[in-house]
Amino acid sequence: MPVRLGIIGCGQVAHFHLKGLKSTDAEITALADINKENARKLAAGIGTIQMFSDYRMMLNETDIDAVIIGLQNNLHYEAVSACIEHGKAIFCEKPLTANAQESKDLVKKVKDANVVFMIGFMKRHHRAFQKMKELVTELAPVIHAKIRQCIFIPLDQMEANRLRRQWWGWDKKVGRGGALVHSGSHELDVIRYLTGEPKSITANFKFVPGLDEMEHYCAAMLEMEQGFSTLIDITAMPYSKYGAEHGGWLEEIEIYCAKGWVKLTNYTWDGSVSPALVVYRENHQSFENIYTGKSRQWENEMQHFINCVENKKNPTPGVVDGYRVDRIISDAYLSGKENRKVEISFAC
Ligand SMILES: NC(=O)c1ccc[n+]([C@@H]2O[C@H](COP(=O)([O-])OP(=O)(O)OC[C@H]3O[C@@H](n4cnc5c(N)ncnc54)[C@H](O)[C@@H]3O)[C@@H](O)[C@H]2O)c1
Repeated sequence: MPVRLGIIGCGQVAHFHLKGLKSTDAEITALADINKENARKLAAGIGTIQMFSDYRMMLNETDIDAVIIGLQNNLHYEAVSACIEHGKAIFCEKPLTANAQESKDLVKKVKDANVVFMIGFMKRHHRAFQKMKELVTELAPVIHAKIRQCIFIPLDQMEANRLRRQWWGWDKKVGRGGALVHSGSHELDVIRYLTGEPKSITANFKFVPGLDEMEHYCAAMLEMEQGFSTLIDITAMPYSKYGAEHGGWLEEIEIYCAKGWVKLTNYTWDGSVSPALVVYRENHQSFENIYTGKSRQWENEMQHFINCVENKKNPTPGVVDGYRVDRIISDAYLSGKENRKVEISFAC
């Protein structure tokens, strides 16, 4: 029997999950959103489906096996907790909560209830990132890593306030942070995926004028357990036409290893344009451009989740990955506030 799914939150990201789910044999039988129009638009791509404005009613009244949560960041904790109480397998979008204490609490709840849990760091399911990991292994050990990522926000106060009204992400109470949370959380997971865990962080922030401690800039140095450093530069710039899709979005990851260097340049967040991947090998003293093909990150991500639900396995990335990224984010804010290096402890 196919996995029966419910979707909680039918906004932007839910459409990408729907696209991914269509390549699996899962059956989407219910969805919930307080915004009828968003629910209707998503349902139009599905067919016959039960629709709810309250996700708790959906959990009480349907026989779904699993849920996809695509709610605003501040609602993840409550929704994940409710789904755990109902024993559902859970896929939750990133960040897990962006608050290390809440995320730690969710690790315990997921483990105690023994439910399948996956977090939406979809880059791990992107072939270019997987290939980069293979290259890092080939060229190891790592000497140094650098990540630069840019998203768009007008830095003028009036414009920023206008933007905040248009998108919840720039409202601290809802988004829970600025550039580091929205796009930087992906990069913190990527560096962990490619090279291992950080052991300390020193971070510096610049905040959008007039917005309540919402950073448009975070420069951070991570000291990694393996003994090298990672430089992280997460920015929101007033460039609306930056990046291949002209949405103001760009990502560059460089890993310097003993036997060579590898760089990934990604022009879109949604995988619609193939990233540029280039490797330099010292033994050949030559560069190679690698084409990894059209991304199937959304399809691969959902296929992995559904396989894990069917076989009751722990997905990757899981709840601990979500917690660890949120721990690094919380420690980054602490470092910036107290102007000091913070030792990271993942104990939970
Ligand atoms: N993996 C990625 O690259 C990626 C990309 C975009 C968004 N996200 C994450 O996905 C999540 C959602 O982002 P989005 O861009 O889709 O936001 P969105 O605003 O487009 O969608 C959120 C939806 O949740 C609904 N909602 C709000 N409160 C609700 C409630 N109490 N019950 C039911 N529905 C409710 C809204 O009406 C809206 O339809 C965020 O956590 C974000 O960080 C991840």
